[in-house]
Amino acid sequence: MGELGELFGILIIVFYSLAVLNFCFKFFNRKYRDKLKRNEKFYKVYMNFLKFFAKYHRYFGFATILMILIHFFIQFSNYGLSITGCIAAGVMLLQIVLGIYGQFSKKKMKSWILIHRGIAVLLLVTILIHII
Ligand code: HEM
Ligand code: HEM
Repeated sequence: MGELGELFGILIIVFYSLAVLNFCFKFFNRKYRDKLKRNEKFYKVYMNFLKFFAKYHRYFGFATILMILIHFFIQFSNYGLSITGCIAAGVMLLQIVLGIYGQFSKKKMKSWILIHRGIAVLLLVTILIHII
């Protein structure tokens, strides 16, 4: 049962990483577009990846919540509460709520994307504290 709990913990991190890849592909496209375009075939494939990660970004985010719920139920029944785990889960929930706000709000603040990016970093820190 402990291993199953660990598996779902890893799956949270996998979906978190898939959500962050949206940023990575867009970042390199913003910074190094000219260099990437030098190889036309490569750039085409690159842009397909970028579109894929942009399209499914929110679903990867939602998937983390599902994995957290399963991880929580397994770990809680085996070991009881984990404070660091609850902090990481709380920050993840905040990120999802912020993501939904950004997705649907027509007049979102300019600072929204900076906060959403910042919380992605904070999440990494809280997850590392939980697993190290
Ligand atoms: C973003 C949220 C979370 C992530 C990414 C996450 C990830 C992980 C991972 C990968 C492990 C395995 C680490 C290892 O074996 O060294 C783990 C262990 C554990 N998690 Fe989480 N977790 C999260 C939230 C939670 C929550 C909300 C709880 C509350 C019960 C929790 C309880 C535990 C416990 C008790 C263990 C340790 C089990 C052991 O000692 O082998 N986690 N977590
Ligand atoms: C694991 C959870 C999540 C993480 C770590 C995360 C992280 C990020 C990051 C780093 C960016 C910046 C992208 C850039 O600057 O190029 C971003 C953008 C965005 N996120 Fe999230 N996000 C998560 C969940 C969500 C969810 C659940 C939604 C919506 C329901 C969402 C909606 C958005 C939107 C609308 C953008 C701006 C447009 C875009 O780049 O696609 N995010 N996210």
